[in-house]
Amino acid sequence: MKEKFKNKKIFHFIYPIIFIFISVNCSNKIKPTEKFSLNFPLGLDSLIAQIPKDNPLTLKKIKLGRKLFFDKRLSVDEQIACADCHNPLLGFADGRSFAKGFEEMEGTRSAPTIINRLFSKKQFWDGRAASLEEQVIGPILNPIEMNNTKENVIKVLSKDVSLKNDFKEVFGSDITIIGIQKAIASFERTILSGNSPFDRFITGDSTAISLSAKKGFLLFKSERVNCVACHKGQNFTDELYHNTGIGTDKKDYDFGRFIVTKNDSDIARFKTSTLRDIARTAPFMHDGSLRTLKEVIEFYDKGGIKNPNLSDKMKPLKLTEEEKDNLIEFLRSLSGMNPLAADKIQTMSSN
Ligand code: HEC
Ligand code: HEC
Repeated sequence: MKEKFKNKKIFHFIYPIIFIFISVNCSNKIKPTEKFSLNFPLGLDSLIAQIPKDNPLTLKKIKLGRKLFFDKRLSVDEQIACADCHNPLLGFADGRSFAKGFEEMEGTRSAPTIINRLFSKKQFWDGRAASLEEQVIGPILNPIEMNNTKENVIKVLSKDVSLKNDFKEVFGSDITIIGIQKAIASFERTILSGNSPFDRFITGDSTAISLSAKKGFLLFKSERVNCVACHKGQNFTDELYHNTGIGTDKKDYDFGRFIVTKNDSDIARFKTSTLRDIARTAPFMHDGSLRTLKEVIEFYDKGGIKNPNLSDKMKPLKLTEEEKDNLIEFLRSLSGMNPLAADKIQTMSSN
């Protein structure tokens, strides 16, 4: 695993901020087709970025997507925007165990962060959306999220002349569902988290993280603890599905990946989460059942929750209290540093 973390090519450029803010440069002189090239913060690599050929990034499209991401008119009662469940101030999650949508209805899964989504093809805890574009329509139509219809979204948004003009400029068409999908997906691809204390440490700044976090990292990748069996690479995920037992101690539990593939071996398997910004997105796991990082470590220490399909990578770890603290310190060192993020994004949400 070591090589993964030591890939020097990733670290040629140091960018001082984690999120790429498009709010600057708001000039109208930008050509609609002008390509936008992402600046990857320290620790992230462009090589595995998933940008479909038929949806190249352009500045105008990203700005349109940002507008739509904060637009409550995507929901049938015009009360809920994407940003209400993926709140930039809450690590692009919602701080809740179960997301709350249309008329305060609760779903059965927790809203994941949407940082670094451009590194994944498949989206959702069970990977049922094949791309970010495909994902966008999910919450818009979901009866307990935005509860809308495609026709109604188009009807309501089309009353907005300025938005209509934006679509004309970006897509050369009226407002369309596919345009909404492409624009929001493009905006999401710019929400990057890197340049964490850990990234600075691994690229040579030995003072960037505490001794405890360093020991935690050694445990994290050790053969004994082996978190990297699943949380590997620059985004700390193998993009695969595993059964850690979360939820399986409840009656009628969530079958996760099985719902998509109908393979028995996929029962209660969920997508390995990224661990970047993890200290910002409690509660944890697909059902928000673990409230603190301490609870997460205790969970892994016990070897997960026994069930017929438990991953063979889950074993009791017999961690000492000090080792548990070290692992938590390491996880905390994965938060991207950007004191301005909150301010900038608040400004973004209001324009
Ligand atoms: C009511 C709350 C709610 C709203 C509104 C909402 N989401 Fe989500 N979002 C969730 C939940 C819950 C999940 C996980 C669902 C699942 O995996 O089945 C999720 C998953 C996602 C994912 C997948 C992340 C991953 O790691 O796989 C993306 C991307 C996303 N949402 C973007 C959006 C966008 C874009 C919008 C607006 C069009 C939106 N969401 C609106 C709650 C919400
Ligand atoms: C067998 C693969 C596997 C191993 C080993 C593993 N994880 Fe996970 N991890 C996952 C999966 C899958 C999830 C999502 C589980 C769910 O929600 O049902 C997850 C979720 C998490 C989360 C919560 C993410 C979130 O956004 O809610 C944290 C934190 C975490 N793991 C840390 C660790 C640490 C620390 C270790 C080592 C002690 C570890 N993991 C070992 C697969 C694994």
